[in-house]
Amino acid sequence: MGAETYSFAFEVYHNSDALIDADRTLLDAARQATANAYAPYSKFLVAAAARLDSGEIICGTNQENASYPAGICAERVLLSAIASQHRGAVITTIAISYQNQNGPSEKPISPCGICRQSLLEYEERQQHSIRLILGALEGEVYSISNTGCLLPLAFRGDHLKTQ
Ligand code: THU
Repeated sequence: MGAETYSFAFEVYHNSDALIDADRTLLDAARQATANAYAPYSKFLVAAAARLDSGEIICGTNQENASYPAGICAERVLLSAIASQHRGAVITTIAISYQNQNGPSEKPISPCGICRQSLLEYEERQQHSIRLILGALEGEVYSISNTGCLLPLAFRGDHLKTQ
């Protein structure tokens, strides 16, 4: 029997003041964009803000539905919008934040499993890593160098090839 170990390192900042300007601006954009979320069921308003290689910032927010599974996470709204409206653009960084109408927003959240799968494929599709900045409305901020770190042993398009 063999054994493998998987680990990854990420940066932890005491709060967003400790970030470089570009990252703080991006996280602020995500924090503000939480106001555009539609989350009447969970009361959990999430926003993702992407910085493109042009420097432009694009935001996406979660959009829920009375038929719960029809709701979409902020991250996948964002990726779909960029793929559809910014052909050829490269995403360099995505900041994710949230407002919790039922509680505090003090600890970073990280993308759900489905979004990790989508983020990984986007990263591979654009052949450029996507750095993640994860921060609540206040408190510690995490910086993760690429989205693949969050999905070890991922299922990939390559697995569908016949030979
Ligand atoms: N949600 C996101 O939009 N992104 C995440 O990373 C985690 C969860 C949304 C889905 C749902 O609308 C609400 O947050 C509660 O799960």
